[in-house]
Amino acid sequence: MKRKTFLRLVCINALIILLILWSWWSFPVQDSVESTTAPDIQANIAPVPSSKHFMVSAFKDHRLGGVIRVISILCKKGLKKVYCVLCDKSNSVAKTDGGLDQCVFSEAKFDIHKNTFPYATASVLCPPPSLQEVTHVSITTDPNNIHNLTSFLPIQNQEVKKSLKYNFTWCISNMFGSSNNAMQFVQTVELYKIIGVQRVVVYKTTCGPHMEKALRYYQKEGILEVVPWPIDKFLKPSGSWRPDYSPGDIHYYGQVATLNDCIYHYMYQSKYLLLNDLDEIIMPYKHANLGDLMSSLQKKHSDASVFRVRNYVFPNTQSDDSGRFPLPEWKKVPGVSLLEHIYREPDNEDSFISAKLIVDPRGVEQTLVHNTQKHFGRVVHVPSDVCRLIHTRRPKKGDTSKDQLIMDKRLWEFEETLVRNINRALHKSGLLP
Ligand SMILES: *[C@@H]1O[C@H](CO)[C@@H](O)[C@H](O)[C@H]1NC(C)=O
Ligand SMILES: *[C@@H]1O[C@H](CO)[C@@H](O)[C@H](O)[C@H]1NC(C)=O
Repeated sequence: MKRKTFLRLVCINALIILLILWSWWSFPVQDSVESTTAPDIQANIAPVPSSKHFMVSAFKDHRLGGVIRVISILCKKGLKKVYCVLCDKSNSVAKTDGGLDQCVFSEAKFDIHKNTFPYATASVLCPPPSLQEVTHVSITTDPNNIHNLTSFLPIQNQEVKKSLKYNFTWCISNMFGSSNNAMQFVQTVELYKIIGVQRVVVYKTTCGPHMEKALRYYQKEGILEVVPWPIDKFLKPSGSWRPDYSPGDIHYYGQVATLNDCIYHYMYQSKYLLLNDLDEIIMPYKHANLGDLMSSLQKKHSDASVFRVRNYVFPNTQSDDSGRFPLPEWKKVPGVSLLEHIYREPDNEDSFISAKLIVDPRGVEQTLVHNTQKHFGRVVHVPSDVCRLIHTRRPKKGDTSKDQLIMDKRLWEFEETLVRNINRALHKSGLLP
C-alpha cells in the first residue's frame, strides 16, 4: 500500500470515530426522554388516579400462564371490582399519542391479605392478552375511567432466566423511624457474608444517621440494594401487626407488600431468599454455611420450596460475663453487639408461630411474614438442631434471668473471621475513625 493511501485511510478512520463520538455527545438525551415518559418504577408506591388505591410493582408470572401480577395496596372500604389496562408501549407511537389503541382492558382477579387494617396488600391478577405482548400495566376500580389512566408500571420478569446471579439474598422488608441500630446491622451483614449471603435488599422508609453510613458503605461495596419505600408519604403506617397495638392505615409499614415485591424482584436473580428482619439471623447449626444447609435439606425434600426456621429470642438484656465482647472500641457505635448476647430463651410455642422463612422464590406465589400464603412446593419445618433464627432483641415478656435461659455460643464459632470483618467494615464505613 502506498504511503499516501495509507495516510488517507487513517484520516478517514479518525474522522469517522470523531463523528461517532460527536453524535454521542450531541444526542445524549434521547434515552432519558423515553425513560421519563415511562418511568421505571421498580418497587415504589404509585397512587391509582381518582381512587384511594396504590400500585407497587408489576411482574409477568410465568408459572400461571403469563398472568400479569400487580402487587398493590388497596383500600378495602367499598372495594368490589378491579380492572386492568395492559399496554404495549415498546413502540414509541403508542407512547406519544397516549391513546389506548395498543392497550387491552379486562377485569382482574384479586387476592387480598386479610387483616383488620383499612388498607391491605393485594395481588391483582390481570389475564394476559393472547395476541400481543404487553410492557406496561395500570389498574383502576372505575371502568369509566380507563381512558384517563396516566400512571403505568413497567412489567418486570418478562423472561424466565435459568442462570441466577446469587445463591442467597436477604430481603429486609422494612426500615423506618429513627432506626439506628448500626452495630447489629453491620455484625449481621458480616456474619451473613461469611455463611453465604451474596445480596442484601432493604426497603427503606427512614433511618438514623449511623445506619445511613452503614447503608452507604454496603451500597458502595456492592452487596446492598436500597429500595426507597416512602409509604409514610401516602398512608399512616402502623408499627405493628395489630391496629390496637399501633393504629394506622396499613400493617407494619406495608411489610407484606415489600416481602412480596422482593420475591418477584429476585425471582430470577437468586436461588434462595431469606425473609427475616433486621434483628434476626437465620443460622445453620449443623452445617458450616447456608449452601451446605440447603443442599442437605433439598436432598431430603426435593419438592420443597418453603423452609420455616424456628425463632429464638436472645435477650439483649443478658450478656456474657467474661467481658470478651463488645470490644472496647465498639462501644462508640450505636446499636446492639450480637456477640455478647449468648443466652437464648428455651423452645416455646412462639418459636414456631414466629418462625421466619428461607424460600425458593420460584416456588412461592404469595408470602406473609411467618408463612407463605400460596406456594407450589412443599413447606418444611426445619428441626431446631439443624437451623435456628437468632433473634437478638429485648425480651418480649419481661426480663428473664440467666438460669431460665440456655447458653448458645454458635456465633463465637465464627469469631476470628467475624471480628476482623466487623472491624474492617466499621472503619471503612466511617462508623469508627
Ligand atoms: C376522563 O377524561 C374526559 C376528558 O378527557 C372527561 O370528560 C371524563 O369526565 C373523564 N372521566 C373520568 C371518570 O374522570
Ligand atoms: C452457588 O452455589 C453453588 C454450589 O452449591 C456454586 O457452584 C455456585 O458457584 C454458587 N453461585 C454463586 C453465584 O456463587
